[in-house]
Amino acid sequence: MDQQTALKKKAGEFAASLVQSGMRVGLGTGSTAVWAVRSIGEKIKSGELTDIVAIPTSIRTAEEAKSLGIPLASFDEIDELDITIDGADEVDGRLNVIKGGGGALLREKIVAQITKRLVIIVDPSKQVNLLGETWAVPIEVVHFGWESQKRFLESQGAVVEVRMGDDGKPYLTDSGNLILDANFGRIYNILALEQKLQQRVGIVESGLFFEMADDLIVASEEGIQHVQGRIA
Ligand code: A5P
Repeated sequence: MDQQTALKKKAGEFAASLVQSGMRVGLGTGSTAVWAVRSIGEKIKSGELTDIVAIPTSIRTAEEAKSLGIPLASFDEIDELDITIDGADEVDGRLNVIKGGGGALLREKIVAQITKRLVIIVDPSKQVNLLGETWAVPIEVVHFGWESQKRFLESQGAVVEVRMGDDGKPYLTDSGNLILDANFGRIYNILALEQKLQQRVGIVESGLFFEMADDLIVASEEGIQHVQGRIA
């Protein structure tokens, strides 16, 4: 296991220790969140955690959870989640986040919005002063008229690329939509940008998670940094 993977594992396992028996849990997506999912699965198997139900944020997380014996629930059974543990592509000092590098942003945001405590887990490479420093904002758009969304994003100052899959074809999300990776550079006013994106018909969702995260866990070689409570 390389060093970065070891840090992701450490962050995931620390976050899993916040889960208590009886909780309804949102399961994140990605190479960091998967370690939390695995750790929760192990705790259920050993009997350390009981009476857990979970909602996954992607088809691949659902498959991982099922293989570990984590009981899954649907939205008709659960109106609120006690905790969700998820990764991020970038996180700033106010716990604002860019997500969607793995393409799961829509389901992740749907799960996040019914979550009481959203815990973001990262290795130090994800920490930035301002969102947009190192990552484009993934933006999920419907097929119909996607070119006009690309032009709209360009008119807002972004350099835009259509996300491609490993098969060389445009990447399709779990909901069958396209992703436009919109590089705005440093984002000085996240809320203003998010509001513009939310108002645009044809944009399904953006990977900007503004004031949604409650905890940040950063695993580094020096240990675990746990920031609790969003900084207003
Ligand atoms: C999935 O779509 C994403 O939001 C991930 O949570 C994010 O990209 C972080 O993924 P890694 O932990 O794999 O870097």
